[in-house]
Amino acid sequence: MSATDTSEPNRRDFLYVATGMAGAVGAAAVAWPFIDQMRPDASTLAASSVEVDVSSLTPGMSLTVKWRGKPVFIRNRTPEEIKAAQEVPMADLKDPVARNANISSDAQATDIDRTAGEGKENWLVMVGVCTHLGCVPLGQQGDFGGWFCPCHGSHYDTAGRIRKGPAPENLHIPNFQFLSNTTIRIG
Ligand code: FES
Repeated sequence: MSATDTSEPNRRDFLYVATGMAGAVGAAAVAWPFIDQMRPDASTLAASSVEVDVSSLTPGMSLTVKWRGKPVFIRNRTPEEIKAAQEVPMADLKDPVARNANISSDAQATDIDRTAGEGKENWLVMVGVCTHLGCVPLGQQGDFGGWFCPCHGSHYDTAGRIRKGPAPENLHIPNFQFLSNTTIRIG
């Protein structure tokens, strides 16, 4: 191996990777509206639900499932992420409403009311659609360590609350419930 061999990507490789990512973001931005148009009609949608086995999600892991034509993020938060979200003063929130379909529509966006509730505050279940113009945010990125929408730069915190950028609302929380300790039904 010569002295110049390295496994680090060189600048040209990096530019290629960066270009590839931009392409992927663009594709995601147009893919969801397209899928949205192919959804079944409203009566079919009303009945549809999905059951998700979350037994493999240890703290710090997430998965994305498709529900009614949209991505839904399920995250088992780390203790650090929970603490960070709990410590945010309500006055710092851009959108003070919980946006949680499982509780009152005017509930405040406290950390606990953004989660699966007492004893399950590590679980976040959210529709993975940016409340600005509908792109799919990226997990564990952005200024607040939560989600970041690269389309126009919206930053969400570790409770999925909008903190910076053009998005007007927190990521929405769909109807869901734990059927057991390891199975969530969405819808
Ligand atoms: S669609 Fe997310 S910031 Fe615009």
